[in-house]
Amino acid sequence: MANSKYEYVKSFEVEDEVMPPNLIVVCVDGRNFHSFVLKKTSKFYQRRSSKISSVIVSFFTSVYVTKWKEFFPFKELRYPPSFVSRIVRCASLEVLQAYLAWRQRDCHVQNQYNTCLWELVKKGGKTKFEAQEILKDAREQDRNELLHQQFGINYNDSLALFRQGTCIFKTEVEDIVKYNEDGTPVKRLRRKASTFRTENIAGRRFWNAHAGLVKELGNFSEDCFKINPDYIRSFVFESKLMPSTWIVIRIDGCHFHRFSDVHEFNKPNDKQALDLMNLCAVAVLEEFQDIVFSYGVSDEYSFVLKKDSQLYQRQASKIVSSIVSFFSSVYVMKWKEIFQNKDLKYPPSFDGRAVCYPSNDILQDYLAWRQVDCHINNQYNTCFWSLVESGKSKSEAQNYLKGTQAREKNELLLKEFGIDYNTLPLMFRQGSSIFRDGEYLDARE
Ligand code: GTP
Ligand code: MG
Repeated sequence: MANSKYEYVKSFEVEDEVMPPNLIVVCVDGRNFHSFVLKKTSKFYQRRSSKISSVIVSFFTSVYVTKWKEFFPFKELRYPPSFVSRIVRCASLEVLQAYLAWRQRDCHVQNQYNTCLWELVKKGGKTKFEAQEILKDAREQDRNELLHQQFGINYNDSLALFRQGTCIFKTEVEDIVKYNEDGTPVKRLRRKASTFRTENIAGRRFWNAHAGLVKELGNFSEDCFKINPDYIRSFVFESKLMPSTWIVIRIDGCHFHRFSDVHEFNKPNDKQALDLMNLCAVAVLEEFQDIVFSYGVSDEYSFVLKKDSQLYQRQASKIVSSIVSFFSSVYVMKWKEIFQNKDLKYPPSFDGRAVCYPSNDILQDYLAWRQVDCHINNQYNTCFWSLVESGKSKSEAQNYLKGTQAREKNELLLKEFGIDYNTLPLMFRQGSSIFRDGEYLDARE
């Protein structure tokens, strides 16, 4: 990022590092719950909570939308799905064990309840309300009996996928990488994600039998019987965003350098790629009424929430993850609308963060900082790619531009390449802002 007098606004970005030896669990929540456990020594985004959880939820959403047709070939995805995520800081392996036991127990309890409910509705002829009344005080055993006696279902024989959830982790498997001339296979050990199902994922018998889990996270010394959800909930990493401040959610494409190369975006600016970003931002503003203004450049977008917003009770992770997830969802869904002749080669992901700015002036400086950055980068990149196109190598172009001032760059463009910088499209030079008509940000108090 470029240097400017506005750069001081960076100091409002607080680091939310999850300190070791805490184990990091990312929970992604939609209709169902998914938990991702990071290895103890993970340096993933320097263990910054908002970055880790936003990147994971963004990637998860992108994959979900990308794969939809594979699983539902005859169903249209009617609207962009989104998920929320948060971090659980497990202070010890025992907390992780209790957490996993809790999630699996929840899966069982909910599945058993829903199985009863829908049997009563579908086969028992009850209304949903009547079924809910019947089940209100029923204990676990009563529910099993109800299923057995009324519907001939042995709950424990029902699909493990529904009763136990799914556990995925990497194990070492032997892979044939090639064949020698004499036809003998050359094998190599490779870590491959595999799916497991078991009655008790937090049990010693299952856990300790997998060398990979023990090596990466440690072994369980006891079985876990008592689960106190409040105790486990106390490890959820949750920060509330300061009241009476402007909240900005900034999202940024992950490794978009590579993404732009793979998708052959025009250099330095690709109008279609920017159009797609803008389309996503419009959708975000339509979905989240509390966002009053947004500004986008390159692979990033800043969303400004209205000052008294109560969105998700100002819980940082909920706000950030739902915006970043929704944005990713729309990006994948709308890709073909913008790039009719280009396939999306892999699911993109975005990271997100929330920053609180205490005054109008500082918010204004924040936006100025992003826009100055846009200008400086764009001017540099326009020169750089013009030089490369004219036959210079990338390092020659870099050296050529080292230490040049804005005026010199404009002169270079005009004299060498006949480009009047100020006539280049506004979107490239100044970025894009999106807000609702009739609603504007007052920059002065
Ligand atoms: P991280 O954000 O740290 O994950 O890395 P990044 O690779 O996304 O880099 P960064 O966000 O700093 O910069 C965005 C990058 O996206 C640029 O450096 C470009 O390589 C690429 N990019 C963004 N917009 C365009 C575009 O319109 N055309 C092309 N060709 N590339 C673009
Ligand atoms: Mg980026």
